[in-house]
Amino acid sequence: MHIESANSAQLTEWEKELSAHYERICQHELNLDITRGKPSAEQLNLSDKLDGILSADYRAADGTDTRNYGGLIGLTCARELGADMLQVPTEEVIACGNSSLTLMYHAVMTGYLFGFAGTTPWRELKEPKFLCPVPGYDRHFTICEQLGIGMINIPMGEGGPDMDAVEKHVKEDGDIIGIWCVPKYSNPTGITYSPETVERLAQLGHTANPGFRIFWDNAYSVHDLGHYVGLPSIRSATLENDTVDSVLQFASTSKVTHAGSGVAFVSASSANLDSLKQQMQAMTIGPDKVNQLRHSRFFAEHTTLKDHMHKHADILKPKFECVLEHLQNGLGDTDLGRWEKPEGGYFVSFNTRPGCAKAVVKLAADAGVKLTPAGATFPYGKDPEDSNIRIAPSFPPLDELDTAMAVFVLCVKLASIRQQLQKLA
Ligand SMILES: Cc1ncc(COP(=O)(O)O)c(C=O)c1O
Repeated sequence: MHIESANSAQLTEWEKELSAHYERICQHELNLDITRGKPSAEQLNLSDKLDGILSADYRAADGTDTRNYGGLIGLTCARELGADMLQVPTEEVIACGNSSLTLMYHAVMTGYLFGFAGTTPWRELKEPKFLCPVPGYDRHFTICEQLGIGMINIPMGEGGPDMDAVEKHVKEDGDIIGIWCVPKYSNPTGITYSPETVERLAQLGHTANPGFRIFWDNAYSVHDLGHYVGLPSIRSATLENDTVDSVLQFASTSKVTHAGSGVAFVSASSANLDSLKQQMQAMTIGPDKVNQLRHSRFFAEHTTLKDHMHKHADILKPKFECVLEHLQNGLGDTDLGRWEKPEGGYFVSFNTRPGCAKAVVKLAADAGVKLTPAGATFPYGKDPEDSNIRIAPSFPPLDELDTAMAVFVLCVKLASIRQQLQKLA
């Protein structure tokens, strides 16, 4: 099916056929959901041994009684886990509560209210702004929006953000104070940043505002689906470029153990960590060290991080394959959309023909299949092309995903043909 070269008669015939199919599906009153990038219950079950693993032995190896107050930067054994996930030295890691997003929020607040490492607080700038590679993670954008920090869209290419655009903005505008990066298996594109991108990002510290920080959200650092994809170390690159203060790295065990009760980590230069600690010590006496100890014991006694992630991959892989098969079989030989084939992470990013995403999401919703709202992957919820849709295969059971994807493909065809018919009318 190639609608660009089809005439009105052909399009009308296709529309009739597909509409009839769509009406039949609507009668099934489906109630399916592929919006949520959450681990499935089967994945969560992999970590159930966390429960009871302490057997009333609350002492960490260094003698800390984890039940008590204190220990702002987290247990050493938990920091070691974060260091392993982020491939950085333990001394450069703080282990916190359950959410890396909370840490990112705190880090943005630190930059905004106090400034990092003695630099000017962002709030004192005329128009502080973040660069936002798009499509991206909506919750990053929400943080900026809530604090009134401006956002500039940066297109994502095959090797990460368009670095020419990034460098131009940073050079020309001293009010650019950050960039959001999900460097491995990006949310939602699944792209892993190339060595060149990492190197060029590490050089930004030379031209940017001294308060500029790269928010390196490595949420999917260990989430390979089978084939390992390497990501160059941003830490090493900034060390070589003498720009270590320009990066803050984040990770968590949310999609490793139990999503709502994991451990989150931030890693940075000592100057940046001092800034973060100053803010944290006013906010808390210390993190949940009991949970940190549970995690540390889990990965020491029950499994290794690597083996554990293989088990996740075994569950996730067939779901990704299901999504990709539907797209390939239904849309592979058409001009109706483009998508990535991620080697890891949690999402498949699909681009409809320009101007069709909202219509696809609406058709799917009316047929009982909930998709992430069109535009959600862009700052302010505005996709200028109305094209990107994020598919999240992890949560639904395989049979439900299979049905949902069949409906998705049908809706893409129908919305595209209807749009083309309108154009030709
Ligand atoms: C890129 C990215 N960062 C952060 C998070 C949230 O992490 P956490 O559960 O540690 O707050 C998600 C969750 O989907 C994510 O996709």
